[in-house]
Amino acid sequence: MSSSPTTPGTNQSWGGRFNEPTDAFVARFTASVNFDQRLAFHDIQGSVAHATMLARVGVLTDEERDTIIAGLDEIHGEIERGEFAWSVALEDVHMNIEARLTEKIGITGKKLHTGRSRNDQVATDIRLFMRDEIDLVAAELSRLRAGLIELADREADTIMPGFTHLQTAQPVTFGHHLLAWHEMLARDHERLLDCRRRVNVLPLGAAALAGTTYPIDRHVTAELLGFERPAENSLDAVSDRDFAIEFTSFASILLLHLSRMSEELVLWTSAQFDFIDLPDRFCTGSSIMPQKKNPDVPELVRGKTGRVYGHLMGLLTLMKSQPLAYNKDNQEDKEPLFDAVDTVKDCLKAFADMVPAIEAKADSMREAARRGFSTATDLADYLVRRGVAFRDAHEIVGLSVAFGLREKKDLSEMSLEELQQFSSVIDADVFDVLTLEGSVAARNHIGGTAPDQVRAAAQRARDALAALAGQPA
Ligand code: ARG
Repeated sequence: MSSSPTTPGTNQSWGGRFNEPTDAFVARFTASVNFDQRLAFHDIQGSVAHATMLARVGVLTDEERDTIIAGLDEIHGEIERGEFAWSVALEDVHMNIEARLTEKIGITGKKLHTGRSRNDQVATDIRLFMRDEIDLVAAELSRLRAGLIELADREADTIMPGFTHLQTAQPVTFGHHLLAWHEMLARDHERLLDCRRRVNVLPLGAAALAGTTYPIDRHVTAELLGFERPAENSLDAVSDRDFAIEFTSFASILLLHLSRMSEELVLWTSAQFDFIDLPDRFCTGSSIMPQKKNPDVPELVRGKTGRVYGHLMGLLTLMKSQPLAYNKDNQEDKEPLFDAVDTVKDCLKAFADMVPAIEAKADSMREAARRGFSTATDLADYLVRRGVAFRDAHEIVGLSVAFGLREKKDLSEMSLEELQQFSSVIDADVFDVLTLEGSVAARNHIGGTAPDQVRAAAQRARDALAALAGQPA
C-alpha cells in the first residue's frame, strides 16, 4: 500500500502512544461509521444504562449522570433530525457519539467511558439492535402465518393434485397443502424465539476483555436494558457472535421455505398449471410481450434466498479460528447481519401481504387432479380391503392405468365391466373410492388431507399462534 497523506483531525483517542497520525487510507479502511451508525440509538440506550449504573455504584455523581443523559438525549434528537455530522476520522458510531457528547458537555462527557470498552459496547449495541429486529421479524412472521391459516381454512374443501417427483400422485386439499407451508413457518418461528433467548444477554461490564477494576454492578445494567442476565465470562462476552450466526441461520432456513413456496406460486400461475391467480398489484408486465403477467414478487423472494445463504457463509467464515478475545475482524459482522435482517423483513412483508390475496382456481385444480390417475392408490387400497395382497393389487391397478392411458379415460370414467377385466373382486361400490372427494375424505386422521382434518388443523394452528403472542386463543 502506498502511503497516503494523513488526515487532519484523525482519531486522537489513542494519540498518547502514537508518534504520527493515522494514514488517511488506513483511517478510511478501518472506519465502520458509514454502516454502524445504524446502531446509534441502541448505542445511546446502552450508554444511558451504563451511566445510570455508574452513578448507582458511586463512580459518577448524580449530577454527572444527569448531564450525560441530557447530552445523549440531545444527540439522539440531532441524529433523528439528520443534523448529526458523522466523521470518518472518528472511526465508528461509538466514538462519534462520545466525541459529540464531550463537545456538548465538556469534561463530564469523557467520564462516560469509565469501566467500559468499545469491545463490550459494540457487542451490547448489536444485541439490543437484534432484539428489536427479532421482535419486528416475529410480528411479520405471525402476520404471514395468520394469513396462511385463514386461506387454508377457506380452501379446506378445494381439491388439487398432490405431487411426488412433480408427477401427479394423490389428490389432496389445497388447504392441506397450505398448512404444510404453515408447518415450515411454525418451526422457523420457534427457531427465531430460541435465538432471541441467546441474544438477550448483557456483554457490558466485560470492558476490553478481562472485566474492570471499578465496582460496577452488571445486574443493574442488565435490568435497565431488559437483558435476561449478564454474560457469564468477560472473554466470551466481547468475542461471541454466535447469535448473529444463529439469526442468519434462522433467516436462511426461513428463506429456503419462502423460496419453496415461491417456486410453487410461480409454477401455479403459469398457463400450464393454472392453479391460482395473483392480484395484479403483486405482478409486473413485460415491455415487449403484451400478454405477460409475471409473478415477480415470488421470483424475487426466491432469488433473495441466495444472498442470505451468502451472509450465513460469510459470518461462519468470519468467526472461524478467531483467537479470544475481540479481534477487529468482528467489525465485519454488521453488514451481512444488517442485510440479512432487511432481506428477511422485506420478504416476509411481501408474503404476508400477498398470501391472503391468492385466488385458488378450484375447477382447474380439480381437473388436473382428475386427469392424472390420482386415485390409483385408492383403487389398490379397495382391492386390499377385498382380500387381494397389496403387491397384486398394485399390479392390477397398473394394468388398469395402462388401459386408461390407451383409451384416454380416468379410472372413475371406466365402466364396471372395463374395471372387472383386471379383477373380479371389483363391485359397483368401487366408484365411491374413485371419486376425488371420496379419496380425500377417506384420509381422515390427524395429519391427513380430509377437509375435516384441515379445518381442525387450522384451528390448532390458530391456537398455537395465539398462545405464542400471549393472547387468549
Ligand atoms: N467498530 C468496532 C466494531 O465494530 C468497535 C469495536 C472496536 N474495538 C477496538 N478495540 N478496535 O467491532
